[in-house]
Amino acid sequence: MVKIAILGYGTVGSGVVKVISENQALIDKKAGEEIRVKYVLDLRDFPGDPVQDILVHDYDTILNDSEVKVVVETMGGLNPAYDFTKAALLKGKSVCTSNKELVAAHGSEFLSIAREKQVNYLFEASCGGGIPIIRPLISSSTADEIDEVSGILNGTTNFILTEMAEKGSDFQDVLKEAQQLGYAEKNPEADVEGYDACRKIAILSSLAFGHTVHYEDIETEGITHISPEDIAFAKELNASVKLLASAYWEEVEGKRNYYAMVAPFLVAKGHPLCQVNGVFNAVFVHGNMVGDTLFYGSGAGSLPTASAVVGDVVDVVKHLGKTIYICWDPDRLSLESNKNAKRAFFVRVSSDKLKEAETHFRASKTLYLKSLPHEAGLVTAVMPEGEFMELVEKFGGVESYIRINH
Ligand code: HSE
Repeated sequence: MVKIAILGYGTVGSGVVKVISENQALIDKKAGEEIRVKYVLDLRDFPGDPVQDILVHDYDTILNDSEVKVVVETMGGLNPAYDFTKAALLKGKSVCTSNKELVAAHGSEFLSIAREKQVNYLFEASCGGGIPIIRPLISSSTADEIDEVSGILNGTTNFILTEMAEKGSDFQDVLKEAQQLGYAEKNPEADVEGYDACRKIAILSSLAFGHTVHYEDIETEGITHISPEDIAFAKELNASVKLLASAYWEEVEGKRNYYAMVAPFLVAKGHPLCQVNGVFNAVFVHGNMVGDTLFYGSGAGSLPTASAVVGDVVDVVKHLGKTIYICWDPDRLSLESNKNAKRAFFVRVSSDKLKEAETHFRASKTLYLKSLPHEAGLVTAVMPEGEFMELVEKFGGVESYIRINH
């Protein structure tokens, strides 16, 4: 029998308890061992909840119990999760986590400690909730040179953008609705400003490329400025607005140039990511042998995320005494400026400036909406982002612009 301890009885931690108790027989069979929760650590008490019988408030109880082989860290945040994780690994306990903030900041460091101690640090639940994406990257796609990982990695913003498109509502109203439904946090900043998706693409690209893509180096733009008018024009273009997180490399004269970005993009209706709606996530991976692959599913929520955490616990139990090698070197990749990335842009201008704008941005297409008679939209020529930004500044009076996904 393998005993585990769970740090934090919040949305994900309570989901882990539920998944293990509801699917106990099946999980034991698949792990080839009985897996039992010995402790749950939380500052709070939960009177009336059976978890109260195994609840502890002092982390040392877990740390000093040699029977506990696996620590599940579902506290979130950097502190005290960093100290707790490090202490568990140094004590020879494996750690499974859903904490993307901590993995993005210290994943490589923890993997190295885990290797030294012959234990495991696994974090399937840190990206894409219940979608299996980390394990495919570290186990299934090992024959491939991966040159792109990108997708929709945040359920809250995808829900908001989907609702805005379906109801024509504005951002603030849909955000309030999302908060009432429990899809958005009271403080929604991490989601709506793109910081959450940024941590996730940092983790996925570090695994895909084998070196550290640091989240602080990733240019990140959220969705707070997206308006119902932008979305109406997007529909006219047969596209949807999606918050995309992407990382890729291109070889130029024998040198690999790495790019990463989180920003709203217009995604054409025919593209698979355009069909990903509501709180769902999808991750696209391209390898030089396998070609295109797409992973889709519930990107958030208690049980989907807990399912991924428990899957990691089962993997740890199957590998007791052995480290599952994960290639993520600590050296920090130097990213190219997105100013060099070439793409087309969608631009909104007032109708009286349209003629001038068409020439200025070398427009390939012009759009009008009956509901917005004083405005027009246009699609620019493909150009480096840096050049586009200079054109925007010189033009003055651009109402809004959105990048177009190619
Ligand atoms: N806030 C995150 C999201 C939760 O909306 O996707 C899952 O990481």
